[in-house]
Amino acid sequence: MGEHSAVHISTECATPDATIEAGRRLGDRLEPGDVVLLSGDLGVGKTTLAQGIVAGYGIAEPVTSPSFALIHEYRLGPRLVVHFDPYRLEAAGALRDVGWEEYLGSGAVMLIEWPERLGDSIPVPHIWVTIAHADGSTRRITLVSEPDTDIDRWSNLWTA
Ligand SMILES: Nc1ncnc2c1ncn2[C@@H]1O[C@H](COP(=O)(O)OP(=O)(O)OP(=O)(O)O)[C@@H](O)[C@H]1O
Ligand SMILES: [Mg+2]
Repeated sequence: MGEHSAVHISTECATPDATIEAGRRLGDRLEPGDVVLLSGDLGVGKTTLAQGIVAGYGIAEPVTSPSFALIHEYRLGPRLVVHFDPYRLEAAGALRDVGWEEYLGSGAVMLIEWPERLGDSIPVPHIWVTIAHADGSTRRITLVSEPDTDIDRWSNLWTA
């Protein structure tokens, strides 16, 4: 594989349960320190997918939107998932005050909604997941891993 090949995987989820299942499979492949960016329109299903990811990573807790608290933590033993939603943050200064960057390098798995809000501060490497509306209630979910160092890890993610 050359440096320009990209891991680019997608699936279609017709129901919220299907989206949770897609998240569960993704969460099962995660490792400490992974950063997963969850991008997509208002209400498209980012938090629903996060719910599956947390479950797949092995933490059996209900996941709710962190849009007011900004950050929710889910722990089990040494495992920590940090779910961050900067949607309500307006200024760049407010973004720094949240302290979300302190989790980077700590071994926490980070799930970040509205990653575009982070501008130049988007962590690298990351796993970029986009959710888009398709027909009716169907969502098209696409995963791109950047940089593309770990191709085998994602084989049959949503097909097996
Ligand atoms: N196929 C689907 N996958 C995911 N969610 C779906 C699907 N069909 C319908 N929904 C509904 O869409 C909504 C998604 O809400 P959710 O909070 O997950 O979105 P969000 O992208 O995190 O929103 P926000 O932009 O406010 O953070 C839920 O009410 C869910 O039931
Ligand atoms: Mg959300």
